[in-house]
Amino acid sequence: MSQKVAKCNITQFGRSACRPFLSLYLHPFKYPASGKIFSSGHQNHQFSFMPFTILEQLQQTSQFIKDKYPYQPEVGIVLGSGLGNLSSEIDVEREIDYSEIPHFPVSTVEGHHGKLVLGKISGKRVVAMNGRFHYYEGYAAQQVVFPIRMMKFLGVSTLLISNAAGGMNSSFKVGDLMIISDHISLFTVNPLIGKNHEEIGLRFPDMSDPYNKQLIVKARKIAGDLNIAVKEGVYAGVTGPTFETRAEYRLLHIAGGDAVGMSTVQEVIAAVHAGMQVFAMSVITDIGIREEENTITHEEVLYAAAEAEPKLTAIFKQLIAEL
Ligand code: HPA
Repeated sequence: MSQKVAKCNITQFGRSACRPFLSLYLHPFKYPASGKIFSSGHQNHQFSFMPFTILEQLQQTSQFIKDKYPYQPEVGIVLGSGLGNLSSEIDVEREIDYSEIPHFPVSTVEGHHGKLVLGKISGKRVVAMNGRFHYYEGYAAQQVVFPIRMMKFLGVSTLLISNAAGGMNSSFKVGDLMIISDHISLFTVNPLIGKNHEEIGLRFPDMSDPYNKQLIVKARKIAGDLNIAVKEGVYAGVTGPTFETRAEYRLLHIAGGDAVGMSTVQEVIAAVHAGMQVFAMSVITDIGIREEENTITHEEVLYAAAEAEPKLTAIFKQLIAEL
């Protein structure tokens, strides 16, 4: 197995960087090395050489999941910081630790559990990511969106996303829910940079409607029926991990953002590229534009997210039922 000499930098990136190569040892027959050398076009991530193209990785990973879970999930769910409880609403048929899944990065953030949950909500088959991958963790944008593309390969057609976000719209307060109607992704790296795989989607995908209008209308109605107040607005995606300076919050608001966060837009771009319909919702966990002298902490974000979580879960659950 000459492929086993493929290099990975353990000291800089931890064991996850080695896992795809480890899978060559563990599954030499299931995942025969193609001998291809692949470079994603990014300089700042852990793999300068990969034995598999992204397409091959996606095929291998989705086959690995299919071998463990013989049903086709219809809905994909990505849960944000402190918002993982929706997965406890799943009639779980299978859970798979990210650490077991070939080509998956491992989540490092507090509040993210790091497992794939497969099962049923409201009678529909779902696959939920309990723990997502953020660009600020050091993953390449293409790695951040790898699980989203994998969901597509599993047969998922609808993606539901939640996140914690800082409010910039002056009518927002901590604990509010915001349906994302559009996003601004100019402040983070586009995950489609690099070679395009036509088998996944177009080189220049349209982004005039990344968030499905019918799902937005449905969610609004569901929230009304459940007596849950929801706002609607534009999510500005940033890399983090710093929270924004006061001047940055003001700039993002002037640029058209109602809320700001460190996730979601890369996932949504990859999902739209791959032809999935997307619905996303933010929990406003802190207020960016404010007079007083308070600082923002990750703990505060997790606390506010957990407080608002039941409302979000109720809407997501009903939305899934009505798909
Ligand atoms: N800024 C960026 N990301 C966030 C924030 C914020 O204020 N709150 C929660 N995630």
